[in-house]
Amino acid sequence: MLTPKIQATLLLLLFAIEALDANRRKQKEKIPPTIINICDINDRDSKVHCYCEFSQEINEAVKTECWVFNGGIERTDPLWTSFTSQSNIETLAFNVRADGGLDFVPTKVFRYLRKLKNFSIKFSSIPKLEANTFVNLTTVQEMTLTKNQIVHVNKHTFYNLPNLTVLTLDENRIKELVTDTFYELPALQKLYLTSNNITVIHDGAFRHLVNLLELELDRNNISELRKECFDGLANLKRLDLRRNKITILNSFTFIELWNLHSMLLDYNEISVLAQRTFDGLSQLRKLSLSHNKLVTLSSGLFEGVRGLSALDLRHNKLRRFTLDNVRPIYDNLRNQNSYIYLDGNEFTCDCHLAWMHKLRHEAKSVKVRTSLENFVCKFNIDPSLNSHFTYFERSEINSNNLYQPDDKSQTKDYPDSADDIFHDEIDDTYTDEPKLARKENEKTLLQIPIELLPCPQDVKTVTDRTYTYPSQNEAKDYRNLILSSTSTATRIGSSFFIVLTWFLYRYN
Ligand SMILES: *[C@@H]1O[C@H](CO)[C@@H](O)[C@H](O)[C@H]1NC(C)=O
Ligand SMILES: *[C@@H]1O[C@H](CO)[C@@H](O)[C@H](O)[C@H]1NC(C)=O
Ligand SMILES: *[C@@H]1O[C@H](CO)[C@@H](O)[C@H](O)[C@H]1NC(C)=O
Ligand SMILES: *[C@@H]1O[C@H](CO)[C@@H](O)[C@H](O)[C@H]1NC(C)=O
Ligand SMILES: *[C@@H]1O[C@H](CO)[C@@H](O)[C@H](O)[C@H]1NC(C)=O
Repeated sequence: MLTPKIQATLLLLLFAIEALDANRRKQKEKIPPTIINICDINDRDSKVHCYCEFSQEINEAVKTECWVFNGGIERTDPLWTSFTSQSNIETLAFNVRADGGLDFVPTKVFRYLRKLKNFSIKFSSIPKLEANTFVNLTTVQEMTLTKNQIVHVNKHTFYNLPNLTVLTLDENRIKELVTDTFYELPALQKLYLTSNNITVIHDGAFRHLVNLLELELDRNNISELRKECFDGLANLKRLDLRRNKITILNSFTFIELWNLHSMLLDYNEISVLAQRTFDGLSQLRKLSLSHNKLVTLSSGLFEGVRGLSALDLRHNKLRRFTLDNVRPIYDNLRNQNSYIYLDGNEFTCDCHLAWMHKLRHEAKSVKVRTSLENFVCKFNIDPSLNSHFTYFERSEINSNNLYQPDDKSQTKDYPDSADDIFHDEIDDTYTDEPKLARKENEKTLLQIPIELLPCPQDVKTVTDRTYTYPSQNEAKDYRNLILSSTSTATRIGSSFFIVLTWFLYRYN
C-alpha cells in the first residue's frame, strides 16, 4: 500500500515528465519538417557537414565549422535554410574541399544567424563578389575570405556593417579595387589584401574607411598609385605596399595620411621619388624603401616627414646621401631607438657623406652607430688624382664610350644624374673585374679623414663659371640624342667634349 504522501509525489513526477515532453514536442513543432539540425546531419550524401562546438542541440551551437564537398551545391539547396536550426551561432566557418565547388557566398544563412560575429569562407571558387553581398550584417565583427579565387569585387560589396572591425581578403586574385567597394564600415580597423593581383586602386576606393588603422596591400601587382587612391584614410597608422611593381611615386600621393606612422615600400621597382612624395606624412616614424632602384634622392625629400626616425634604404643604387637629404631628420637620428640602414648601395666616397662622422659621435642609438661604423663607400676615382681637371678628363673618357652602339651603359637602367653618365664606364670596368678588386675599391667611410674625402662639388662650382658644364637635364637630352642617332651623334659628341676640354683649359 502506498501512503498518500508517496502517491502525491508520484503524481507530481508524472506531471513533470508530461510537461517536459510537451515542451520538447513544442520545440520540435517550431522547426518545419524539412529542416534538419545542421549540427547533426546524418545523410552520408549531404554536400555539407558541420561540426559544432559546445553543444549540438537545437539552437545551442555557438561555434560551427562546416565542410563543403561532394560538388556543386546550389544556392537554392534546402540545406541553407536549415541554418535556422542553429540561430545562436556566433562563429561560422565554411571550408570548401577540393571537390566542393562552392562558387557563391551562401548569403541565405545570414538571415537566420542573428548573433553572427565571426564569418569565414576558405578554399572556395567564388569568382566575383556582387554588390550587397555583405549588407546590413549589424552583428558581424570579423570576416575572413582567404584563398577563394575572387577576381572581381564590385562597388558596395561590403555595405553597412557597423560592427565589422577586421576584414581579410588575402590570397585571392582580385584585380582592381573600385571606388566605394567598402561602404559604411565605420568600425573597420584592419583591412588585409595581401597576395592578390591588384594592379589598380581607383580613386576613393577606401574613402569611407575613416577609422582604418592598418592596410595591407603587399604582394600585389600595383605599378602606379593614383592621386586620390588613399583619400579618406585619415587615421591610418600602417600601410604595407611591399612586393609590388611600383616604379614612380608622385608628389602628394600620401597627402591625406596625416596619421601614418609606418610605411613599407620594400621590394618594389621605385627609381623616382618626386621631391614632395612624402609631404603630408607629418606623423611618419618609419619609412622602409629597401630593394628598390633608387639612384638619387632629391634634396628636400624628407622636408615633409620631420618625425622620421627609422629609415631603411638598403639595396638600392644610391650614390649620394647628402647633408641636405639628412638635415630635416638629423635630430631624430641622434635619438635612442632610431635607425638608418644604407647597406647595398653604390655610395661614392665624397664630401657629401661627411655628416656621417658627426652623427656617429652624436647618436645615442646603437643601431645608428653600428650602421655608420659599417658604412662602405666606393672610390670611383683615385683620391690622389683629385684635381679638378683630372676628374674631368676621366669623365670625358667615360662619356666618349657612350657613343658605341652596343655599349653596356645603354642598357643601364637608370642614367638619371649627370654622375651616372660620367661614371658609367668606371663602374662597368670594375664590374668586370673579380670581386676582390671591387672590394679594394671600397672603403669604410669612417676610416677616411674628412679632409681626404674628394669633393666633386668643387668641380661643379668651377665649371659653373665657365658655362660649359651641361646641367643634368641638358646632359639627359644630350644623351637621348646620342642614343637615338648613331654616326652623326658621334661627331657631335666628340666635338662637344673637345669644346668642353678647351673651355676648361682656358678658364681653369
Ligand atoms: C574568427 O574566425 C577565424 C577563422 O575561423 C579565426 O581565425 C579567428 O581567430 C576568429 N576570431 C575570433 C575573434 O574568434
Ligand atoms: C539594408 O538596410 C537598409 C536600412 O536599414 C535598408 O534600407 C536596405 O534596404 C537594406 N538592404 C538590403 C539589401 O537588405
Ligand atoms: C557591436 O559590437 C559591440 C561590441 O562587441 C556590441 O556591444 C554591440 O552589441 C554590437 N552591435 C550589434 C548591433 O551587434
Ligand atoms: C593577374 O591579372 C593579369 C591581367 O590583369 C592576368 O594576366 C594574370 O593571369 C592574373 N594573375 C593571376 C594569378 O590571376
Ligand atoms: C601583373 O600584371 C601584368 C599586367 O596586367 C600581368 O601580365 C601579370 O601576369 C601580373 N602578374 C601576376 C603575378 O599576376
